[in-house]
Amino acid sequence: MTSLVVYESMFGATKALAEEIAQALGDDGPARVVEVGALAAEGPTLPDDVDLLVVGAPVHAFGMSRASTRSDAAKEKGTVISATIGVREWLALLVVRPGLRFAAFDTKVLTPRLPGSAAKAIDKHLRACGADRVCPPRTFSVHGKADGLVDGELDAARAWAGTLTATR
Ligand SMILES: Cc1cc2nc3c(=O)[nH]c(=O)nc-3n(C[C@H](O)[C@H](O)[C@H](O)COP(=O)(O)O)c2cc1C
Repeated sequence: MTSLVVYESMFGATKALAEEIAQALGDDGPARVVEVGALAAEGPTLPDDVDLLVVGAPVHAFGMSRASTRSDAAKEKGTVISATIGVREWLALLVVRPGLRFAAFDTKVLTPRLPGSAAKAIDKHLRACGADRVCPPRTFSVHGKADGLVDGELDAARAWAGTLTATR
């Protein structure tokens, strides 16, 4: 199985999860992890050999980020990882192969737990494009906007990745 894990991340939490997930998927075949802006620069289609697409993004303002929320994030820290586009903009241009298997995850603050999900929006978009989800959208928790992952979330991500290959 060939997997592609694409992530958007401002401060590194979603990136760390994506890398962990890709490493776990690597036990089952080639697995590449790539930042969304870098993947978008390769064009609107995915490589033909991708069997499983995993998409991860931070929750911004109750959903997927926008240019305005990414700009707010940049003000917070000075620099951000996904400095060009977000998953929202990438998905808008992505040509989805019907039947493509995918899973979506997001990161959001543990306390206070606010409503809203980027993963659900990603899931909804990809299903509307004809892709097949292998599991419901998954949320992982961070302590605060830029304060990193809650303990145990990398292990949880690794376990989650194991369920993705099990459903093959
Ligand atoms: C502009 C902005 C808006 C945010 N909005 C929300 C939100 O609505 N709900 C939430 O739980 N977290 C929110 N957060 C916190 C992000 O989810 C958190 O920064 C992210 O999960 C960290 O992942 P990253 O390190 O990969 O960027 C927001 C963060 C920023 C910068």
